[in-house]
Amino acid sequence: MKIIAGNWKMNGSRAKLGEMLSALRVVKTENRVILCVPFTMLGVDGGWVGIGAQDVSSHQNGAYTGEVSATMLAEARAKYVIVGHSERRMYHDETNDIVRAKAQMAIEQGITPIICVGETMDEKRSGKTMDVIESGVRESVPADVHDGIIIAYEPRWAIGAGITPTAQEIADAHRVIAETLSYMGLAGTPILYGASVNAGNVADIVAIKNVDGVLVGGASLKPQDFIPIIESAK
Ligand code: PGA
Repeated sequence: MKIIAGNWKMNGSRAKLGEMLSALRVVKTENRVILCVPFTMLGVDGGWVGIGAQDVSSHQNGAYTGEVSATMLAEARAKYVIVGHSERRMYHDETNDIVRAKAQMAIEQGITPIICVGETMDEKRSGKTMDVIESGVRESVPADVHDGIIIAYEPRWAIGAGITPTAQEIADAHRVIAETLSYMGLAGTPILYGASVNAGNVADIVAIKNVDGVLVGGASLKPQDFIPIIESAK
């Protein structure tokens, strides 16, 4: 069983989500499928597909115009939420501390956070990849968590770029994440790979050790792209 999570980012519509869910209804798979959609598309019944959000406030409630709390997400039937996606870290200056607070809020509401970590091109070039990943995991995962989280390794330089790291680079990154989680008492936490995943490369990627699934951006938007990914990931 692999976890196949789609991240629609700021794309799609309620109608498109309806089309995707009807197309997915007839797919036979043992994989766990998740779709993380914009806030306005939440509230739908995903059937066997887990519906999630792409961000959550680090605050409980109050004067935070434009933000959406974990309680509100739970009310809108979100089962998952992506936290610390590289686009949030990059465009909204989210630090590991903020990401950890967001993950904590989600967990308190019974929502599984998909906590993203990954290095930029500059960090990769200066040999900091493993440090960034390790501190990303240590600092973004709330204390006293025993299960109910997912980690996503997203090499930031590869997202949306149509390029993927080598199998060895993915294996090395996932090994460091698995070791860090194990040190934190979180052995067995699923670790997803995310960046430029498509139907052509997913089988090879999920065959890599410590890769428990994938987080898919662009290729999760259309049933004709997303369904072959679900079917190819074994
Ligand atoms: P991509 O995005 O699949 O379009 O590279 C991945 C992500 O941002 O989660």
